[in-house]
Amino acid sequence: MHENVTVADHPLIQHKLTLMRSTSTSTAQFRQLLREISLLLAYEVTRNLPLESTTITTPLEDMSAPVLEGKKLCFVSILRAGNGLLEGMLDLVPSARVAHVGLYRDPKTLVPIEYYLKAPEALDARICIVVDPMLATGNSAVAAVSRIKEAGASQLRFVCLLAAPEGIENFVHEHPDVPLITAAIDRQLNDHGYILPGLGDAGDRMYGTK
Ligand code: URA
Repeated sequence: MHENVTVADHPLIQHKLTLMRSTSTSTAQFRQLLREISLLLAYEVTRNLPLESTTITTPLEDMSAPVLEGKKLCFVSILRAGNGLLEGMLDLVPSARVAHVGLYRDPKTLVPIEYYLKAPEALDARICIVVDPMLATGNSAVAAVSRIKEAGASQLRFVCLLAAPEGIENFVHEHPDVPLITAAIDRQLNDHGYILPGLGDAGDRMYGTK
């Protein structure tokens, strides 16, 4: 295992992930489970955020108390499936800023093609958490992180639900400075770039488009 890769093996995450994989799980249940897991993954990816002290007044006295240091976090959603992870994360960190990167995979070459990018200002001063449920070939994640770095970000983390070994190799090779958090590492990719055993197409399962 790469030192920069963390498998979030919390029992609730593992249980919910098993439900998500099953074909007997409905679109509504799939979306709900993804939202629930994203809260737990958000907890994992934010556990070592830096803190600073501020002085507040409780009803009894003044105290020096911890708050998050620096500018607001930025979540970066890789469209469209990234939005499924984004929503739960925003429940936990409602003040976060959000960037969207639109990428689709060319079905023949599996190369990511960018069609949209919108990001908040001062990315260089924010911790950016890039989210996409499926790290398959890793090409989209690599491209999205590269674009966000070009836009100024220097402190990044990547969160996914499922990763293929091939995608992890690709990602840590291209972005060795970016910690990667996943709920599970599956066996392999098939010839169409799908993760095995996986859960199918995350976007289609979230939105009922197939
Ligand atoms: N994207 C998905 O949604 N599923 C996979 O298995 C691979 C890429």
